Amino acid sequence: MTTQTDIDTTALVRSLDLETKVRLLTGATSFTLAPEESIGLGELRLSDGPTGVRGLKFSGGRTVALFPNATLLASAWDEETTTEVGRLLAEEALAQEIHVVLGPTINLHRSVLGGRLFEAYSEDPLLTGKLAAAYVRGLQSLAVGACLKHLVANESETNRNSMSSVVDEKTLRELYLLPFEIATAESDPWSMMAAYNDVNGVAATEHDHVINEVVKGEWDYSGLIMSDWFATKTAAPAAAGGLDLVMPGPAGPWGETLVAAVRAGELDESVIDDHLRRLLVLADRVGALGELREFPADLPAPDSAVRREQLTRLAAAGITVLTNAQETLPLSRGTSVALIGRHALETIDMGGGSAQVNPPYQVSVAEGLTALLGDDVEVVDGVEVRTRPVPARPGFVLDPDTGRPGVHLTLLAADGTVLDEQHDAPATVVVGFDDDFDQPVARVRFRARVAAEGPVEVGVIGPGTWDLRIGDSSLSYDLRTSGAGFGEELLAPPVETSTVDVTGDDIVDGVAMLRPPTRTEVVEDVSELDAEAEPFGGVGLFGLVARPAPRAHDETIAAAVEAASRAEVAVVVVGLTEEQETESVDKSTIRLPGQQDALVSAVAAAARKTVVVVNAATPVLMPWLDEVDAVLWAGLPGQEGGHAVAATLLGDLEPTGRLVTTFPAEEGAAPAWSVTPVDGKVEYTEGTFIGYRGHWAGQAPEPAFWLGHGLGYGTWEYTDATVSLAGPSPVVSVTVANTGGRDSREVVQVYLEPAEADEPVRLVGWAAVEVPAGGSASVRVTTDPRLWRAWDTASAQWSRIADGGRLLVARGLGDVRASLPLG
Ligand code: BGC
Repeated sequence: MTTQTDIDTTALVRSLDLETKVRLLTGATSFTLAPEESIGLGELRLSDGPTGVRGLKFSGGRTVALFPNATLLASAWDEETTTEVGRLLAEEALAQEIHVVLGPTINLHRSVLGGRLFEAYSEDPLLTGKLAAAYVRGLQSLAVGACLKHLVANESETNRNSMSSVVDEKTLRELYLLPFEIATAESDPWSMMAAYNDVNGVAATEHDHVINEVVKGEWDYSGLIMSDWFATKTAAPAAAGGLDLVMPGPAGPWGETLVAAVRAGELDESVIDDHLRRLLVLADRVGALGELREFPADLPAPDSAVRREQLTRLAAAGITVLTNAQETLPLSRGTSVALIGRHALETIDMGGGSAQVNPPYQVSVAEGLTALLGDDVEVVDGVEVRTRPVPARPGFVLDPDTGRPGVHLTLLAADGTVLDEQHDAPATVVVGFDDDFDQPVARVRFRARVAAEGPVEVGVIGPGTWDLRIGDSSLSYDLRTSGAGFGEELLAPPVETSTVDVTGDDIVDGVAMLRPPTRTEVVEDVSELDAEAEPFGGVGLFGLVARPAPRAHDETIAAAVEAASRAEVAVVVVGLTEEQETESVDKSTIRLPGQQDALVSAVAAAARKTVVVVNAATPVLMPWLDEVDAVLWAGLPGQEGGHAVAATLLGDLEPTGRLVTTFPAEEGAAPAWSVTPVDGKVEYTEGTFIGYRGHWAGQAPEPAFWLGHGLGYGTWEYTDATVSLAGPSPVVSVTVANTGGRDSREVVQVYLEPAEADEPVRLVGWAAVEVPAGGSASVRVTTDPRLWRAWDTASAQWSRIADGGRLLVARGLGDVRASLPLG
């Protein structure tokens, strides 16, 4: 096993007693590993990615750069872009003295209902694997460790801790393990994370076949495999199954139980030694063993000019033109624009869950477009997009003491001791997850000035007895969880609001006495609960709501229609929110929430031209597609999102994205749909035919848009496509001419359609090229030999797929430009 230095990790392991070795194999806190002075092991510090490096705290940590989400970054179909992202994330990590970033997420987009797809790159394993390798290379080039997650078959969230993904070996190898295999071979990631779910009835954290036989055995993986947080179910079976490290700690299922298992002869001590050796190798690689690394001091701040430029450019690279009738886009300067929609004002820049970060600012599309077009833009709010009130946005509320966006947050103990106090803070706080106070938090207080006049909706989030004052009004709320079970206090805490008139100077002051979680017992008569009986002992999210009072949909739509008919172009921004795109919860529909479809149709009927910007990471239905002139896919574009969307709408930057997921045309019209376990199982019955592969085979109707679709602002002619069969795998050459009036970037995609009907069509390679207007370029695409393999279950080996079939040179399978027969 290679290490960075000459440190003899085997000897270090041998110098420790069993108890110490086992203790080091469970985290010390939520995101750190214990140091061990006797062997020169420093504290190892981990942080979530992959959209930014959040730091050691789950919430309320320091401000860090918020990157575009993974699907948007992947939509650039560009390894250099992803390597740059890895390098920048490494800088963000080093600035916080973090050694390992918990990303990339490389599960596949099996069903579009998966709540967490926004964190993962694509439905395609080659694209995912190549981009993951590029990201890891960028991260690790600065000696910050990457962590491929979640091993494996973790494509949905419903009952994720208990469900079993049922996947045959061929499908596992050819699809779900392939990104891990490619990234391991091409970037040697220093860690991986074993998933929450079971795979074929065996916990992923104790999966001897996957971890020991395939990853550590066949692939000769030299890194460390940690568990997902709280995912480890057993001691000896998990340790024997190949899991190296239990996260988080300090409590966990290993400790004394594992020591006892070794002493009882159930597990050989050499197994423990190997886990610890891998941990020391990781520590050595990231500079936490022997001579401890020095962290650089002069890295760009998350709001620096250099980060602003990088984040705008990275977002634009993935923004995708889905339709563009009569070159509606880009818009010319001087055009009058009615900019409509809740997402224009409150652009969604990240998904929910562990990928969330605390960014220094977020630029909305309204701010971005107004900065470029000034008075030519009229901004109009759209219909409601959420089912639950959201925490107050900084800007709508100001810290009363500093006058800056945010709130004044105070956490207090039962005796009134101030445990923490923050200015300009976000309007939510998580209590109980990684607190390091001397006493438990018993009260939370939010103070803020509401920077609005007229009716506003104010309220509170989180279980407790709340006392809220605003202006002359005094409100009290008694919020309780339903008792629905683990996670409710964090993911769907109770919320209550009222409508109050404010003057622009009013201070809202909300204090909660936290209520102990009701946990699993269903409470029928909530009055039986006594708030003060026991301290709040769980993990919960608390927050302050303040936002413009909601209007009736028809009034909102009427105002939008009026603005649209006054302007030369209406730009409607629609999308999803973190209610749909989040860890822990799957979607039940791909319809846009609320009355957004009605809003688009009404605007399109009134406007001279209508452009729709979709602010979401994953497919939505577009029943108004034929009614509008252009559709721009903006993903979850990160803190510079508004600037990136504005720059691409005006053509200052080309939206060069190509889709990474196939968009079904109807609800259910995809090869894999339901993500709800039946009898605890999600059966991957579609096999290797997910996404475009299944649509092409006729297993689902023609999609609305294929993976790889994206128009950019160029127009392209393909000529002289040829294939060379010499060498380990075929190479395609083709000439592409940019026949449009703008310089542009083209992504040439090559798909293999095998001769055998039971083998799906698949992406086997791609290459991108930038071509000036009127110019042409010759492009070579070397196909990836790993996509010419088929897993033979009977012999448990790879074979080569049969000769014959054809290669398709395409801009997504809806626009095939050349067909090259093979043999
Ligand atoms: C997620 C992981 C994440 C971990 C730590 C888990 O809930 O599944 O992706 O890294 O939490 O926050």
